[in-house]
Amino acid sequence: MILASSLMFIQCTSSLDEGPQGLAGANGQNGVDGTDGVDGVDGTAECIACHNVQNKEHAQASYLLSVHAQETLHATQNAAKTEDFILTTSDYTNRTGCVECHTSGGYIDKMNGVTLKTGAGVAEHDPAYPAGKQAITCTTCHDKHSTFDFANDGFDFALRQALRPVALTAPNANYTIDMGSSNTCVNCHQPRGIPPTTATVKLSSRFGPHHGPQSTLLEGIQGALYVGSTAYPVPGSATHRSGASCTACHMGETTNGTDGAHSWHPTENACLACHSSEPTEVTGYAADMATLQGLLVAKGAFDATADAFTSNTVDLKVAQAAWNFALLREDRSHGIHNPNYAKALLKNSIEAAQ
Ligand code: HEC
Ligand code: HEC
Ligand code: HEC
Ligand code: HEC
Ligand code: HEC
Ligand code: HEC
Repeated sequence: MILASSLMFIQCTSSLDEGPQGLAGANGQNGVDGTDGVDGVDGTAECIACHNVQNKEHAQASYLLSVHAQETLHATQNAAKTEDFILTTSDYTNRTGCVECHTSGGYIDKMNGVTLKTGAGVAEHDPAYPAGKQAITCTTCHDKHSTFDFANDGFDFALRQALRPVALTAPNANYTIDMGSSNTCVNCHQPRGIPPTTATVKLSSRFGPHHGPQSTLLEGIQGALYVGSTAYPVPGSATHRSGASCTACHMGETTNGTDGAHSWHPTENACLACHSSEPTEVTGYAADMATLQGLLVAKGAFDATADAFTSNTVDLKVAQAAWNFALLREDRSHGIHNPNYAKALLKNSIEAAQ
């Protein structure tokens, strides 16, 4: 515009000096109207429902109460090595085979389809993903929205994995679980091995499905299905699976400020959707677990003092009972994730270990 007006000025001046002013050109025709844009999403309803300071602060405050946020005690061994080396999850879980669930960087690489780094394979720590606790933080789980068409595609909460089902590690990738926003949890909270199948099994302190089998217990799979007198429920049939979800129970509205949301401690509110008060026990669970433990001790499979499996070789029936004992213990919901499946596993395992 500055250039144009200065040219006009020059033209004016010169016309005064040198001759008559020329006529202005005719106005050009109006352009054709563009097509209407797609209506924008109603910001108040769609975006601000989640995106407001209160929600963000609530997420942050509740997250700090969670186990995910804990910088677990770091190894404290003095230089002379006279103190015990305190093993925490972090101190030996930044290794190949562990990083995708135990470090933030490993999980993000896995979600992005990046081949996991293996570093130098050092015994204690794999330097590819830094040593020390890699707390599971906001950007571990959240990334970008994969859709804004929430009405048709569902809410993705900008999670790395919400609208895609999870292909399980065990039994194999053909088994998928789709639980919406809880798919995030399934990625990490799933077992890494399959129940025993051979005629005899050598046990070890590591025997079992590994610590986070919650997803498959909820689904009602991955138990060692010894055929006893109690029928196993059909996979996926538990009401806690079909009518609730990880996020429904663990991230519901807080009851008293210490649970729910990003604390991931189950809320009583979530139970009240179906129960008249918060049920605390799966009928008979504690008694049956104690009975099963006693039988496993008698068979030389479990050492009650060490609170761990022995390294004895046992027959398949005992190994199946031992697997189910480990599965239920490591799930840590005391059977609540799938009451009927837990009851069937316990009753049949007790028969198997007689
Ligand atoms: C598929 C994901 C996954 C992989 C792979 C994985 N873990 Fe874990 N691990 C978990 C989850 C989830 C928990 C927490 C379970 C809980 O608290 O109920 C856990 C817990 C643990 C714990 C703490 C147990 C406790 O009783 O407090 C240790 C130790 C551990 N893992 C070691 C390892 C090691 C070592 C590797 C690699 C060889 C590994 N994990 C691989 C998911 C995984
Ligand atoms: C372990 C995975 C995980 C981590 C870590 C995590 N989130 Fe979330 N977040 C979720 C899931 C899953 C949902 C959806 C919950 C639902 O379905 O109701 C969610 C929902 C939200 C929401 C929308 C619901 C609401 O509370 O209004 C906000 C905001 C949010 N997260 C922010 C954060 C922030 C900030 C952090 C870090 C302090 C964080 N998240 C860490 C998994 C995670
Ligand atoms: C159901 C809850 C929810 C709704 C509805 C929602 N968001 Fe988000 N959004 C999140 C969460 C959770 C995050 C990640 C954590 C954070 O940043 O608070 C996020 C992250 C974002 C980000 C940063 C990451 C990115 O994708 O670039 C943008 C931008 C964003 N949202 C825009 C929007 C807009 C625009 C809308 C409305 C069309 C919207 N969101 C609706 C939950 C929601
Ligand atoms: C990146 C892997 C990962 C994801 C994703 C994840 N978790 Fe975890 N979670 C873990 C690990 C590992 C632990 C054990 C503590 C630790 O080392 O952080 C854990 C611990 C927990 C605990 C506490 C267990 C205890 O020992 O008291 C709960 C409850 C839990 N997770 C629930 C969830 C839910 C619900 C989701 C989905 C919204 C989820 N987690 C998503 C890996 C994950
Ligand atoms: C029906 C509600 C419900 C559903 C669905 C549910 N949980 Fe739980 N979960 C619980 C309850 C109740 C506990 C026991 C908490 C306690 O004993 O403090 C629990 C315990 C746990 C624990 C051990 C926590 C601890 O403090 O030791 C983890 C980890 C966990 N759940 C993860 C998950 C994951 C992952 C999913 C989805 C695959 C899931 N839960 C689905 C209600 C539920
Ligand atoms: C969607 C509805 C629903 C929700 C939500 C729900 N439950 Fe349940 N719950 C059931 C049903 C139905 C049963 C009976 C078993 C079945 O049908 O799978 C049950 C069974 C149980 C049992 C076994 C009771 C027994 O006598 O053995 C316990 C314990 C339990 N629920 C605890 C909880 C807790 C704790 C929560 C909240 C964190 C919760 N439930 C949330 C529907 C629900």
